[in-house]
Amino acid sequence: MWKEKYKIGVERIDQQHEELFRRVEDFIKSVRSEGEWELKQEKVKETLEFMSMYVVTHFADEEKYQQEIHYPGYEEHLQLHIRFKEEVGKYVARFNDTGFDEELVQEFGGKLMAWLIYHVAGADQKIGAYAARLGGGKE
Ligand SMILES: [Fe+2]
Repeated sequence: MWKEKYKIGVERIDQQHEELFRRVEDFIKSVRSEGEWELKQEKVKETLEFMSMYVVTHFADEEKYQQEIHYPGYEEHLQLHIRFKEEVGKYVARFNDTGFDEELVQEFGGKLMAWLIYHVAGADQKIGAYAARLGGGKE
């Protein structure tokens, strides 16, 4: 699902985006694969833990970069990150309640992928475009 055109020209951030796509794809693939749900749950747990940590690091790096280049859309972008973390938190709470209900995990995988594409192909591109106008962004 990752596309070269999603690159914003900042190597660290582009690499993180690519890794996020890879992990979310992996997650979805594993959830949709054949086999006992009980056995898949470990993978689901593992991916969820990785994702929640990685997303925090990635958002922090992306926010830092926006501040460095004095990106005018910083506040707005920050809100998107906050809202996303809230959404993930809600799912985690629901998982704790339901104990990884299969349907809910599938729904979560789909939402993650949709958000990732929408965010990386949309909001994040604006950062790249702004950096390019500054003559930067190609680290
Ligand atoms: Fe972002």
